[in-house]
Amino acid sequence: MDIVISKMMSKPDFQSDFLANILKANANPDIITFAGGLPNAVSFPVEAMDRAADKVLKENGIMALQYSGAQGYLPLRQFIAERYRKKGIEVDASQIIITNGSQQALDMFSAVMIDPGDRVLVENPSYLAALQTFHLYDPEIVPVSLREDGIDVGELEKAIRENSPKFMYLIPNFQNPTGLTYTEEVRKAAAEVFRNSNVMVLEDDPYGELRFAGQGGHSFGWYLGEQCCMLGTFSKIVSPGMRIGWIACCEKKVFDKLLAYKATMDLHTNMFCQMVLFQYLQDNDLDEHIARTSLLYKQKVEFMLSCIDKYFPEGVSVTRPQGGMFMWVTLPDGIKGVDVQNAALKKGVAVTAGDPFYEFERDVPTIRLNFSNGSDEYIEKGIRILGEVIKEFMK
Ligand SMILES: Cc1ncc(COP(=O)(O)O)c(C=O)c1O
Repeated sequence: MDIVISKMMSKPDFQSDFLANILKANANPDIITFAGGLPNAVSFPVEAMDRAADKVLKENGIMALQYSGAQGYLPLRQFIAERYRKKGIEVDASQIIITNGSQQALDMFSAVMIDPGDRVLVENPSYLAALQTFHLYDPEIVPVSLREDGIDVGELEKAIRENSPKFMYLIPNFQNPTGLTYTEEVRKAAAEVFRNSNVMVLEDDPYGELRFAGQGGHSFGWYLGEQCCMLGTFSKIVSPGMRIGWIACCEKKVFDKLLAYKATMDLHTNMFCQMVLFQYLQDNDLDEHIARTSLLYKQKVEFMLSCIDKYFPEGVSVTRPQGGMFMWVTLPDGIKGVDVQNAALKKGVAVTAGDPFYEFERDVPTIRLNFSNGSDEYIEKGIRILGEVIKEFMK
């Protein structure tokens, strides 16, 4: 029997294969994996969450177990809005929707904004699962080069002029996959370009709070107000398994559509988890927790960089992230990231080649490394093996 499935499902296959391999490697305890983006489990507040869950069930069990509103638990939205306001970004709890991780918010925004054939700007390279999500709605993706200091503003201006895009998706802090961060000058200049257009900005910031070096920059939401929708998540600062993220949208028409779509998709995000998370946030100091996690990641990245200096051959360069969970390796000319990925996997080390993060380029000389997860011993062994694999390709 020939089953015909929606053509929308066929486009992201290339990226899906990479994603499936990352998840497979993460699940195999015999493989040293730098391929995924797992937070370090040491940072999970298991006991505090146990106390929070107990309290919610004892004090508010009926509400936690009942159906609830699509927009999400009000106290949690108020908590998030307050954190935006502390950064000088005017957002009210009524402009926030709690989502099933920021991944769901990416889908909601795509569903609301993209008609087939619409142009969408992305950083080149960009977050693989965002590219996949956009593809489900059949846009034309227009990549804009990412440089050491952020988006290439000249190229951005040209891309907007020539393509009349619906929106641009960007990750200005410790970007996935490169670990790069926009300087304030680039943020300001890019914001000016957006302000002179009618292009919406979708700013994704899962890593921004995990800064362990340098100074923070302003959000595009600070510069652009309702022209920017902001995605956030508790995945990297508390727990990814709870699946709690959000979208902050001050543009009323877009907000109403997002909320209607969310309600249709799943009625609402898991109420029990929202309430437990909020209880945890009430009884514990989130900033202290984030500071501890950031310090751990600082130690991890410094250790991984010291191993890279020791084991990687001359001619390989890496980004030196000021936060987040990823770094980006550029191999000497002529060496494909995919070949290194495949050879390393045969020796028990998983990395992700640069290819799936690009819309068009293939056989690129880059790989992404996750540094947040794993003991020092594990990091040293994996980097040593990876160095040997790269050296083989340089012979
Ligand atoms: C840039 C980016 N956006 C969104 C997500 C999805 O995060 P969540 O767990 O909140 O769905 C990730 C996860 O790795 C990410 O790296």
